[in-house]
Amino acid sequence: MKVAVVGGTGSFGQAVAKQLVAAGIEIVIGSRDAERAKEAAASLGAQGASNEDAVRGVDLVLLAVKSEAAVETARELRAAIGTTPVLSVCAELRFGPGGVKPTTEATSIAERIQAELDAPVVAGLHSLAAASLADEPPDEDALVCGDDAEAKAVALELAARLVSGNAIDAGPLVSARALEGMTAVIVNVNKRYRAHAGLRVTGLPER
Ligand SMILES: NC(=O)c1ccc[n+]([C@@H]2O[C@H](COP(=O)([O-])OP(=O)(O)OC[C@H]3O[C@@H](n4cnc5c(N)ncnc54)[C@H](OP(=O)(O)O)[C@@H]3O)[C@@H](O)[C@H]2O)c1
Repeated sequence: MKVAVVGGTGSFGQAVAKQLVAAGIEIVIGSRDAERAKEAAASLGAQGASNEDAVRGVDLVLLAVKSEAAVETARELRAAIGTTPVLSVCAELRFGPGGVKPTTEATSIAERIQAELDAPVVAGLHSLAAASLADEPPDEDALVCGDDAEAKAVALELAARLVSGNAIDAGPLVSARALEGMTAVIVNVNKRYRAHAGLRVTGLPER
């Protein structure tokens, strides 16, 4: 599998890319600046390119840009992405007194990204923290949702390489609203308990 990480110079993109390279997946780090992408990719044993070049000829585009820029970035990359499946990991957070809160937007970022693209969009990995991916795959589950079965299967295959727990199908793309909101929950838990919390879903059949 070949995966482009758009915004792969950021902390989450770097952490995910490092794990995926270790798992034998071919990675292209994308950036608005091709030179920055090449520098960020070199230490990982990955390729680097502009976001637009990175997304061409891959099996999956992992959209890991700063959340405020996610919808606009998808719009700009529409032609280059074509019909290649996109996995959005983005979640909007509001920081303020009383803790971290999810966005008040009516729809998830993933659904707004879907509205910009010809490609099927899936959403997931929101409960994984960059810090938890620093070494071995963490003892966590990774949840992925989406409406396109083939795109979701590719994203679940990738998710399974990132965690030692389960890669879990969390249903249709509208579930992204809940998954994106889970990021705020985890950040609050981390702050309260000075932890690197993650999710495990219980009651699943043995695999
Ligand atoms: N950090 C985590 O633990 C974590 C966990 C789960 C999900 N996520 C999600 O993963 C995404 C990335 O998180 P992060 O912490 O890695 O974010 P980040 O470091 O703030 O940003 C990631 C990359 O986004 C690109 N970027 C910044 N502003 C941009 C703009 N205006 N237009 C286009 N690209 C822009 C930058 O790449 P270039 O400057 O090289 O283009 C940057 O390196 C977020 O959407 C977040 O919600 C993060």
